[in-house]
Amino acid sequence: MNLLIMGPPGAGKGTQAETLAQELQITNISTGDMFREAIRQGTEMGKKAKEYMEMGELVPDSVVVGITRERLSQPDCARGFLLDGFPRTVVQAEALEDMLETMGIVLDGVINIAVPREKLLERLTGRRICRNCGASYHLRYNKPEVENKCDACGGELYQRSDDNEVVVNNRLDIYESKTEPLIDYYASRSLLKNINGDQDIEKVLADILASLGK
Ligand code: AP5
Ligand code: MG
Ligand code: ZN
Repeated sequence: MNLLIMGPPGAGKGTQAETLAQELQITNISTGDMFREAIRQGTEMGKKAKEYMEMGELVPDSVVVGITRERLSQPDCARGFLLDGFPRTVVQAEALEDMLETMGIVLDGVINIAVPREKLLERLTGRRICRNCGASYHLRYNKPEVENKCDACGGELYQRSDDNEVVVNNRLDIYESKTEPLIDYYASRSLLKNINGDQDIEKVLADILASLGK
C-alpha cells in the first residue's frame, strides 16, 4: 500500500504514521525528520534547510522534491510507503505524480487529519520528541512512562526549536495558504480519506484503519 498522510502542523501525522506504518508493514518516510537528521549531521542540505525550518517557512520545492525522489527509489519503499509531510505545495504534488508515474507506482490513498486551529498551538508547544528515534510525546496528552525518556528506546526527549508560539503561528498560516489547497487536489482524484483528528490517539488510528478497509 502506498499512502500519504497530511494535515496541519500538530494534527498528529507523525504520531499516527509511526503506528500505522508498523501495522501495515510499510516504510514510514517523513521529510521533516529527514531534514532534522541532515541538520544534526551538519550536511550541506541540513544547513540550507535549517534557515527555513527555524522560521517555520517551507524549504524550497526543488530541494524537497530531490530528496523525496531519492528516498522513494530505495529498495525498502518497494513493500509500500507512508509519506508524512510531503507534498506540501501543488508544485510538489505534481512532481510526486510524475515521479510515481515514472516508477510505475500507484497511490492508494491520502489520509487527511483535520484538527481545529485553536487546538494545534497547545499540542505543539507541549510536544516533546525523542532525540534518538524521533517519537512524539506530549506533556499532557501523551506522556512518556518515565519523565523525559522515550518509551520505545529510552532516548532523551527535547523540544523542537520550531515549536514556539511565534513560529507555530507562521507554520499554521503557511499551511493554510500553501498546503490546504491539496485537499481539493486529492479529493478531485478520489484519493482523500478525511479523518477527525480531534479525538483520542487510539480512536484516530482506528478511524484511519477503517477508512483503508482494515
Ligand atoms: P514537519 O516535521 O513535517 O512538521 P509539521 O508539518 O509542522 O508537522 P508536525 O511534525 O509539527 O506535526 P504532526 O502532525 O506530525 O504532529 P505530531 O504527531 O508530532 O516539518 C517541519 C519543517 O520542515 C517544515 O516547517 C518545513 O520547514 C520543513 N519541511 C518538511 N517537509 C517539507 C516539504 N514537503 N516542503 C517544504 N518544507 C518541508 O503531534 C503533535 C503533538 O500532539 C504531539 O505532542 C503529540 O503527542 C500530540 N498529539 C498527537 N495526536 C494527538 C491526539 N489525537 N490528541 C491529543 N494530542 C495528540
Ligand atoms: Mg511530524
Ligand atoms: Zn526513542
